[in-house]
Amino acid sequence: MTENTIQTLRVSRIKNDCIGVKTLIFKKPTELKPKPGQFAMIWVPGVDEVPMSISACDEASNWAITVKNVGECTQSLHNLTINDYIGVRGPLGNYFKLPTDRKKNIFLVGGGIGMAPLRFLAHDLNKSGYNFKIIQGAKEESDLLYMDEFYDYDRESSEFHFCTDDGSYGEKGFASDLFETLIKDYTPEQFKNTVVYSCGPEIMMYKLLQKCEKHNIEFYACLERIMRCGCGLCGLCTLDPLGLLVCKDGPIFSSEELKKIEDFGKYKRDFTGRKISLE
Ligand SMILES: Cc1cc2nc3c(=O)[nH]c(=O)nc-3n(C[C@H](O)[C@H](O)[C@H](O)COP(=O)(O)OP(=O)(O)OC[C@H]3O[C@@H](n4cnc5c(N)ncnc54)[C@H](O)[C@@H]3O)c2cc1C
Ligand code: FES
Repeated sequence: MTENTIQTLRVSRIKNDCIGVKTLIFKKPTELKPKPGQFAMIWVPGVDEVPMSISACDEASNWAITVKNVGECTQSLHNLTINDYIGVRGPLGNYFKLPTDRKKNIFLVGGGIGMAPLRFLAHDLNKSGYNFKIIQGAKEESDLLYMDEFYDYDRESSEFHFCTDDGSYGEKGFASDLFETLIKDYTPEQFKNTVVYSCGPEIMMYKLLQKCEKHNIEFYACLERIMRCGCGLCGLCTLDPLGLLVCKDGPIFSSEELKKIEDFGKYKRDFTGRKISLE
């Protein structure tokens, strides 16, 4: 069995996270253990196959995906009940690499459904005893994700910061601005010793890259593009001008790569491959 073998599996648990967002859990018998940042192609029979970040995986190979209902296939995923079947291919793509230096200042900066892969990363960091800070941005309080779990973490090693566009919870404003506030008193030595992992709206990640570049901070972004094959065949997820594929070379890209990707923060492709503005 390879990561591209489709396995038909039953949904074993469903959790309502917030309005329009659900987490589905299924047991995936595979020796290929997913790592934070990787995704799976999820097939709903008779509907479509779509990419979803793996939002958790436990020792017994129970995988989770957290799905925002935005269209036909995600609506069908929301309509599933326990014991319904889905097809799963994965784990696919690259992953967030944990720092070898355990004394690093680690930031996880996420917006909206971009918290899904960061949740998996937070679980791993927490389990491995790293210190880290999470910044979560959302439109409003009711859109914040995984609050119950995050508050269960050891508060000595983890810090949580929240912001909402309307100020209904945490700071009023954007995650990229909150990050800037949190590092405002850092020395050049601390900047050098900081790493940021991000996922969310591309404009937010673009702003984060600029801030990290300014201070010489190591930075990684998890990108989203419309995908067909998820395995490097169709070319729909190509990033110009390097021709990097989000499904194969990503979805995680370093600042060195992002600086060279002219599409980053500006363009994505629609289902026909035509470029459209991200604004
Ligand atoms: C690597 C990766 C990881 C992802 N992880 C998650 C996740 O953890 N949770 C989650 O809810 N979603 C995730 N997505 C986005 C998800 O794949 C899309 O929302 C989904 O494919 C939409 O399918 P649909 O049939 O419901 O919507 P459609 O009816 O096809 O489209 C509805 C709207 O969603 C937009 N859309 C469609 N596909 C994508 C896409 N791939 N990225 C962004 N917008 C899209 C369309 O342009 C349209 O505006 C991820 C995407 C990628 C590439
Ligand atoms: S989705 Fe087909 S090449 Fe990436």
